[in-house]
Amino acid sequence: MKKKILRSLSCTIAFCAIGTLNGYAQLNKTYLDESQPIEVRIESALSQMTLEEKVALCHAQSKFSSKGVPRLGIPEVWMNDGPFGVRAEVLWDDWAVANVTNDSCTAFPALTCLAASFDPELAAMYGKALGEEARYRNKSVILGPGVNIYRTPFNGRNFEYMGEDPFLAATLVVPYIQSLQQNGVAACVKHYALNNQEVWRDSVNVQISDRALHEIYLPAFKAAVEKGKTWALMGAYNRYKYEFCCHNDILLNKILKLDWKFDGVVVSDWNGTHNTREAALKGLDIEMGTFTDGMSKTEINAYNNYYLASDFLRMLKDGEIDEEVVNDKARRILRLIFRTVMNTKRPFGSFASPEHFAISRHIAESGIVLLKNQNNLLPLDFAKIKTIAVIGENADRIHSNAGGASKLKAKYEITPLQALTKRWGDKVKITYTRGYGSYTPTFEGVIPSPYNADSLKNEALKVAANADVVLFFGGLNKNRHQDNEGFDRQSYDLPYGQPELLIELAKINKNIVFIIASGTATALPFEKDIPTIVQGWYGGSEAGNAIVSVLSGEVNPSGKLPFSYPKKLEDCGAHAFGEIAYPGIKNDQKYMEDILVGYRWLDTKKIKPLYAFGYGMSYTTFKYRKATTDRKEYTVADTATLTFTLTNTGEREGAEIAQVYISQPKASVMRPVKELKGFTKVKLQAGETKTVKIQLPVKEWAFYSETSQSWVVEPGEFVISLGASSDDIKHKCVVTIK
Ligand code: GLC
Repeated sequence: MKKKILRSLSCTIAFCAIGTLNGYAQLNKTYLDESQPIEVRIESALSQMTLEEKVALCHAQSKFSSKGVPRLGIPEVWMNDGPFGVRAEVLWDDWAVANVTNDSCTAFPALTCLAASFDPELAAMYGKALGEEARYRNKSVILGPGVNIYRTPFNGRNFEYMGEDPFLAATLVVPYIQSLQQNGVAACVKHYALNNQEVWRDSVNVQISDRALHEIYLPAFKAAVEKGKTWALMGAYNRYKYEFCCHNDILLNKILKLDWKFDGVVVSDWNGTHNTREAALKGLDIEMGTFTDGMSKTEINAYNNYYLASDFLRMLKDGEIDEEVVNDKARRILRLIFRTVMNTKRPFGSFASPEHFAISRHIAESGIVLLKNQNNLLPLDFAKIKTIAVIGENADRIHSNAGGASKLKAKYEITPLQALTKRWGDKVKITYTRGYGSYTPTFEGVIPSPYNADSLKNEALKVAANADVVLFFGGLNKNRHQDNEGFDRQSYDLPYGQPELLIELAKINKNIVFIIASGTATALPFEKDIPTIVQGWYGGSEAGNAIVSVLSGEVNPSGKLPFSYPKKLEDCGAHAFGEIAYPGIKNDQKYMEDILVGYRWLDTKKIKPLYAFGYGMSYTTFKYRKATTDRKEYTVADTATLTFTLTNTGEREGAEIAQVYISQPKASVMRPVKELKGFTKVKLQAGETKTVKIQLPVKEWAFYSETSQSWVVEPGEFVISLGASSDDIKHKCVVTIK
């Protein structure tokens, strides 16, 4: 008997083994074969996946990851924020940081700073370095860059984006994505689309003309997809045509996947998904962060309750949704996996390296904008200066660790005070005083400033009175409502009593420099009282060193504003039509300014800004001469070449960002006075002259016709304006389009 049992048992084991072996042996391993085209590998994997396995690909399994196919040896998809660096690890199913000790990264400058450099080569350096950090941290997707358009100075996330002009954003986003993805890490351009404010971000419905959508808010996304070849894209929280952008038929199925031929993955914003059928049929591929608020709140282990989880599976099994729907999603996700984590030839990256900190510093230095230098106080002459008063909370505050999803656990962030002390502390007496104190809004309430404002002010006035130079570091600080995700600004004014303090300080010391840390314009009513003003941005790990390099003259500032500085809020198009235009009424909003965003509005309404889009000074001067076009007549298929000479007429080397704007004076539709369609940064030694050529594809001079739903370049006269900024045009050339 015993033998009989043993025999049957051994037969069973053998059968199972063979069965399993057979089962295993039946696996068609083509999907693992990297010599095969990706599309062949996708079909090989898909044909062996169960319905459950396909559905499992389409939703999160943790805060920042989604499933692979364990049975087939297809890895999970690991994502992480953000646009300026690789965010600290959080717990599997909680926003709390995991407190691991190997994730302190390089903090790169906020993207408004990159935008201010107007430099595609820097954008490529940025993307490459960020991609290397993300690769080293074994991420398959980095959740950035953000290219929403700066429509209002109130948007809490302007600092994450690339300014008010679609051509500038579209030009810089392409090299950023291309060089990032060379590391085998997917960019995830976001937030598509019309997420241009934080008030009611998760529900506001944006009503907008087709022209404004296509001419202003989509170009950077279109370039990211068609030229940048982004492998992923994040849907926005808000609604367009009353459909959530994370599952939106027009934006995702029609424009993105059909017209732009996007072959990547649409990822929802965290908690941007709201309905199974909509998510299944209207373009979403991976659902992330459902039941959270994208920043802090969360529901424990809800992943099977996601819209694209058990409900989706049930509807597929019941035949309510065709299996081809999940097959398309699975194909896109497998394509992403083969392009990233299963690409064994991808490089290995590097992390928090001296090279990355040097790149971060170079970009920060290149984005700083000199706004005013009335008495040529800058660059600081350390041969004469004996005492410096450093005033303002931002002199000794780091910013990379705040602001929302883009926050980072940087290996370090040098503050301006640290950099000044390190570089000049042994030659100059540096006295620091806070000057003003910020309060800190939290979920539970506002933590007041622990400092007495009057005593801070009196101390600041005393220190300033005895100094050769006053450096005032102020601006915003990524506290809530002060450049922070989820919290739009509630006032155009600088907070914490800075204006009053600055005016007082300027009265007792005319050698005062105001350095602004911010990602958005603020009212500067005291501007005429302050002789020297610098837009310093949020510069990342090397912020302090970058600003000191510029103040000391080691670096000649070359940045130009990627957005306008209106004198007052009402001068801004988004705030010229009442609540319906911003923030909307009862979750419904109309972009009443339409295509006239930023300088387009200011030019057309003849409103002079305090500082114009594209404006920025240098420690040297430049002269533009002899602007000519290669022809007088062009067809739409042509590329016009604008040639001019640029001379550095000053005493030191410098770089000038020359800009080209196009106007169509007699169009059949309303067009802005002019639109940026070309720019280039020209480096010149003192006294040097260069002949500069800028290529201008005529097809980019088009407007979007709502009647033909297509881009149109009408025949007739066009004006090409060459300028140092949008309100400093040097030369005009008139050409005719046949
Ligand atoms: C956030 C943000 C998005 C970020 C995501 C994950 O709420 O809107 O930019 O990538 O959730 O943190």
